[in-house]
Amino acid sequence: MNILVINGSPKGEKSNTYQLTSAFLRGIKQKAGDVQIRERAVCRMDIKPCLGCFSCWNRTPGKCCIEDDMAQVIQDLLWADITVWSFPLYYFTVPGALKNLIDRQLPMNLPFMEEQEGQVGNGGHPSRYDMSGKRTVVISTCGFYTAEGNYDGVCSLFDHHCGPGNYTTIFCGQGELFRVPELSAVTGDYLSCVEQAGAEYIDGGISEKSRERLSELLLPRDTFEACADASWGIEREDAGTGENAAGAKKESNTLTFTRQMAALYRKGSWPGKDIVLEMCYTDVGECYQILLGEDGSHVYTDGSLTADTRIETPITVWRSIAAGEIRGEEAMMQGLYHVRGDFSLMLKWDDYFGSSRPQTKQTREIPGQKNTDMNIMLIPWIVFWVASSISKQSGCLLSVAACALVPLLYYRHKKTVYDVLGGALVTGFCIVMLAGAFEKLMLPFSYLAFGVMWLVSCVGGLTPLTAHYSMNSYGGEKALQNALFIKTNRILTMLWGMLYLITAGISWFLMRSPVSQLSGLINSVLPALMGIFTAWFQRWYPARVARGK
Ligand SMILES: Cc1cc2nc3c(=O)[nH]c(=O)nc-3n(C[C@H](O)[C@H](O)[C@H](O)COP(=O)(O)O)c2cc1C
Repeated sequence: MNILVINGSPKGEKSNTYQLTSAFLRGIKQKAGDVQIRERAVCRMDIKPCLGCFSCWNRTPGKCCIEDDMAQVIQDLLWADITVWSFPLYYFTVPGALKNLIDRQLPMNLPFMEEQEGQVGNGGHPSRYDMSGKRTVVISTCGFYTAEGNYDGVCSLFDHHCGPGNYTTIFCGQGELFRVPELSAVTGDYLSCVEQAGAEYIDGGISEKSRERLSELLLPRDTFEACADASWGIEREDAGTGENAAGAKKESNTLTFTRQMAALYRKGSWPGKDIVLEMCYTDVGECYQILLGEDGSHVYTDGSLTADTRIETPITVWRSIAAGEIRGEEAMMQGLYHVRGDFSLMLKWDDYFGSSRPQTKQTREIPGQKNTDMNIMLIPWIVFWVASSISKQSGCLLSVAACALVPLLYYRHKKTVYDVLGGALVTGFCIVMLAGAFEKLMLPFSYLAFGVMWLVSCVGGLTPLTAHYSMNSYGGEKALQNALFIKTNRILTMLWGMLYLITAGISWFLMRSPVSQLSGLINSVLPALMGIFTAWFQRWYPARVARGK
C-alpha cells in the first residue's frame, strides 16, 4: 500500500498538525503489513502559483508549462493509494502555499465539461486518470479552542475535490498545545487516540468511540484561552497597534509561566477557602502569587497577599518538572525545591493543576477498575484474634469461615498479595490450633507472623504493605512511582511491623501472667494510637521533606 503525505504547514516537520499525522501513520503501520510512505513538505518544495494559461489542457495536455516540483507531486498523487493532506487552518481554509499546490493539479483534469455523479456544485471536469479506489485523509489543527464550526471552508473544498463523504477527516482545535512539552500529558493522550484512529481507519473505518474521543477538547475552553493569552507574554493593554505595538513590554518568562500555571487551575477543586500560592523563582529573584479562588485564579505581581504555600525553586527546575523530565516529588527529595507553609496544596497538586485531559463520562468510566481495601486483609486476623481468645474451638471455626468468605469481596475490590497471604496464614493458625496447639502459644505467634509480613514488604524493591492500600487516595497505581509516597509508606509499614513484634512479646508475657485479660485491651489500644500517629505522619513527613529537612 502506498501512502502520500502532503504536509502543508510552513513549519514542515515542526508542525503541530504533523504530530497528528505521524501518529495516524503509526496506527496504520501497526495494522497494515507492507506500507510505502512518501512525505512531501510543501515548504521545502518549489511550487509556483498557477499561471491560468490552460496550456496543460490544450498545448501540452496533462503537462504544466511551469518547470518545478509539481510534476513530481502529480506522479506521487498517481502513485498513492491513500493521500493524507496535513495542514494548519489558515483564515478558515488551507494555507496559501498548499492552495497553490491544489490549484496546480489542473493537468490531472480533462478540459471538457462533465458533471460527476453525486458531485457538489454545478459543472465539473473529469479526471484525466483513473483515480477510482484512491482514498483521501484530511488532518488539520487550528488555533481556536475547538475545530467545530471552523472547517466549513476546508470541507467545502474537499467536498468538491473528492465528493462529500469520500474522504476522512481529523480536525483538532487548540493545535498550539502540541508544541508545549509541559502539556505532553494532554497532547500525548490525544495523539494516542489519533494513532488508534489510524489503526481503525486501515481496518475498515474510524470507530464512533474514537471519533467521539477525537472531538473532545484538549483543555476546557476557559483554561485553554487563559493559557493561550498568557503565552504571548504581553498584557492586553500593551498589545496596542502601530507605534504602541512596537513599544509593547514583553513580560518576564517566569511571569508568563506563572500565568500559564494559574490558567491550568481547576476551580472545581476549590477547597472552600481561597488559597494563595507563592511561586518564588530563586534563580531570577522573582516572586508571584496565584490566588486560587472559587471563580478561578488570579496572578498578583506585587506580593500584596499573605501566602499560604510558598514554593522556592529555580525556574529551570519548574520547567523540567512541567516538561516531565523529572518527577515533582523526586525533585523535592533531591532538595531541588522547597515548600514553606501549608503543605496540603502539594498533596493535592494534581487535583488543582492536573494537566490531563478533562474526562468525559465515557473516558472516566474505566470498566473493571477496582480499589484495594485494607479491611479485606485485616478481617481474618481481627476475627481470629478476638474470636479465638474467647473460645478456641468456635473462634477458629469462625476465623476459617471468615477466610473463606472474604474472597467474595474481591467482586468489588482489587485483591493484594497481602489479602491472600493473610487469609492463608490465619487458616493455617486455626488448623494448627484445632489440632491441639495452645492458644497461649499460637496467638503471640500469629502477632509475630503478622508483624513479619509487614516488615518483609519493606525489604529490597518490594512495595511496602501500606502503599498497596493508601495508593487509592493518591491517584491509584501511579502513586507507586512516587518516591516520596513510597518512602513515607516504607517508614510507616516498618513502624507497624515493629509494633506487632512488640505486641507478640507483650501477649506472650501477659497471657502467662495473672492479668492475661489485659492482653486484649493493650492489643487494641496500641494499634489505635498507631493509627492516630499514621494519620499525622502521612502529612507531616512529606511536608518536612519539602521544607528541605
Ligand atoms: C496566518 C495564520 C492564520 C490562521 N488562521 C486560523 C484560523 O482561521 N482559525 C484557527 O482556528 N486558527 C488559525 N491559525 C492558527 C493555526 O491554525 C494553528 O496555530 C495550527 O495549530 C498551526 O499548525 P501547524 O503547526 O501544523 O502549522 C492561523 C495561524 C496563522 C499563522
